[in-house]
Amino acid sequence: MQKPASLVCINKSFFRIGTHQRFFQTGLLILLLLGLQFRVEAEVPVARQDVLRHMLKQDCGSCHGLTLKGGLGPALTVNEIANKPRQLLRSTILNGRPGTPMPPFRGMLTEEEVHWLVELLYKGDV
Ligand code: HEC
Repeated sequence: MQKPASLVCINKSFFRIGTHQRFFQTGLLILLLLGLQFRVEAEVPVARQDVLRHMLKQDCGSCHGLTLKGGLGPALTVNEIANKPRQLLRSTILNGRPGTPMPPFRGMLTEEEVHWLVELLYKGDV
């Protein structure tokens, strides 16, 4: 069976390019991947990240404990939340838990910010 002409063409051109060009291509690919990673993390600007970290200690901490080991609200330490689904934590923060003291933060925090906060809690990087 004959290979489709376009495939043969890609194969040939890949093996014909020199080492320099291959370095260049790999470099471009790495830059692209780094760029993508940066974009995901940059959704919450660094200045805002500082505000959120402060808020986690002062505001959330007033109920969950200054070191998030629990108080009026449950502990939010890595061990405590490790087995809880991300979606549950995110929606609890955004919508609160009606009938409990956990208030909704929608309007004060964007979904991206809540996403970022929850990842911070999973990493224990607070
Ligand atoms: C006024 C007190 C109060 C404040 C302020 C507060 N929480 Fe809570 N939070 C609670 C209580 C109480 C619960 C438990 C609700 C229940 O009984 O299900 C809770 C539950 C949660 C849960 C779910 C935990 C689990 O194990 O299911 C998360 C996540 C959470 N809070 C995060 C936050 C974050 C983040 C902030 C700050 C942005 C915050 N809370 C601020 C009282 C508070």
